[in-house]
Amino acid sequence: MRKKLFIKTFGCQMNVYDSARMADMLAPLGYDAVQSPDLADLVVLNTCHIREKAEERVFSELGTIRPLKAARAGKDPMVIAVAGCVAQAEGDLIIERAPFVDIVVGPQSYHRLPELIARARRIAAGAEGAANCGGRRQPGLGVLDVEFPPVPKFDSLPPPRATGVSAFLTVQEGCDKFCSFCVVPYTRGAEYSRPARDIVAEARHLVASGVREVTLLGQNVNAYHGEAPESAEGSWGLARLARGLAEIDGLRRIRYTTSHPGDMGADLIAAHGDVAQLMPFLHLPVQSGSDRVLAAMNRRHSAAGYLRIVEDLRRAQPAMALSSDFIVGYPGETDADFEATLQLVRTVGFAQSFTFKYSPRPGTPAAAAAQLPETVKDERLQELQALLREQQAAFNAAAVGKVVEVLVEKAGRKPGQLSGRTPQFQPVHFSAPPGRSDVGAGSIVGVRIDGAALNSLDGSPAESDVGATTRQPERANA
Ligand code: 5AD
Ligand code: SF4
Repeated sequence: MRKKLFIKTFGCQMNVYDSARMADMLAPLGYDAVQSPDLADLVVLNTCHIREKAEERVFSELGTIRPLKAARAGKDPMVIAVAGCVAQAEGDLIIERAPFVDIVVGPQSYHRLPELIARARRIAAGAEGAANCGGRRQPGLGVLDVEFPPVPKFDSLPPPRATGVSAFLTVQEGCDKFCSFCVVPYTRGAEYSRPARDIVAEARHLVASGVREVTLLGQNVNAYHGEAPESAEGSWGLARLARGLAEIDGLRRIRYTTSHPGDMGADLIAAHGDVAQLMPFLHLPVQSGSDRVLAAMNRRHSAAGYLRIVEDLRRAQPAMALSSDFIVGYPGETDADFEATLQLVRTVGFAQSFTFKYSPRPGTPAAAAAQLPETVKDERLQELQALLREQQAAFNAAAVGKVVEVLVEKAGRKPGQLSGRTPQFQPVHFSAPPGRSDVGAGSIVGVRIDGAALNSLDGSPAESDVGATTRQPERANA
């Protein structure tokens, strides 16, 4: 009998990837994904612990789901699983605050979901006592499993089912950097790189299912050092992996995220200059422009070091567009420190960015330090966001009048429109070329940019370039 699965994903792209893999894994067991938890047999909340607000959202979602489960009590109860980083970091708190949760499973253990679900269902049916469960046991709770497993989960997952032309592909997980504000090394565990052979095989499988762009994912993706396909060759870094993937016929675009400045090696920078499929866009978080704050954050790079990398990247690839994460209001951040961040932003000129107020996270070194007043954090956030918005608008405006190559992803917002992204990751909506039914998702089309807004571009097909589906992408906006 088919069953209904509702997965809600919080947080980063790695969680989006993990949620998709959970659905892939559960499909052969009869679970079809549904868009609402109302009638679901299994609800999975794939959670994020990076900031306090993200954690709060999980508990509020659980509050919404609780009555749905209560309404189904009886023969065929709803099973609720909390997965992801809150599960890993706050398993005990979940049990305390939400004892109706059946399964708590960390981000490295979700390949065990089928077994955990079967147990939870047996327990709910009274066929097995909670005390007989694996993992850590709690009275009244089905299964709690938040240990880091000895075997990487990837070996136990089925091949992914591709949906769409652009897919995520996790190549690396975990982090050994221990930035003093960040929970990731505690929730995702130590750095681990998948063997290159498995990644290439997964990419080939995705391309065979219609994918034209892969985004390689990792908490520290440019620290990638996976076993080479021929193990005698040692290991492959991210640059070598990108070159290997670029040989796959039909794979038109390669992106990767998230990178650390400390791992931005010369080989990776050079690859941006000569691997045509490697897109001229990089999300390279700097967090702060003050060396004092960077040192306190244990970032292991300086502001000048970051600027040197940006210069080198732009020398290798003049079209390079940069994106970053920023934290304002880190403990001890002075007005002068914040000004240094603004100065770095003015120097780089970012195409897009993500900004956050510092949020103390339990167990991290910075959480114990004296906190800045919320008003100071708010003011700095507003000022930084205003500057970054200005830069993003200017970056988009600079595309107006140019012809850019757009990878078509889907139908656009309005009838007769298509939408996709430029090499520099800007969303574009454009009118479909008349009489060209061959141009659709997966095509790469030359689009003349007619207008720019803060978050997207508008365009029309450029006569000479319509339907250029077999060419390698060029560097746009150079
Ligand atoms: N407070 C605020 N922002 C944080 N980030 C990570 N930890 C914290 C925290 N404790 C931000 C960083 C990181 C992004 C994913 O989230 O900017 O790059
Ligand atoms: Fe967190 Fe720093 Fe690792 Fe990024 S590099 S995941 S910010 S500890």
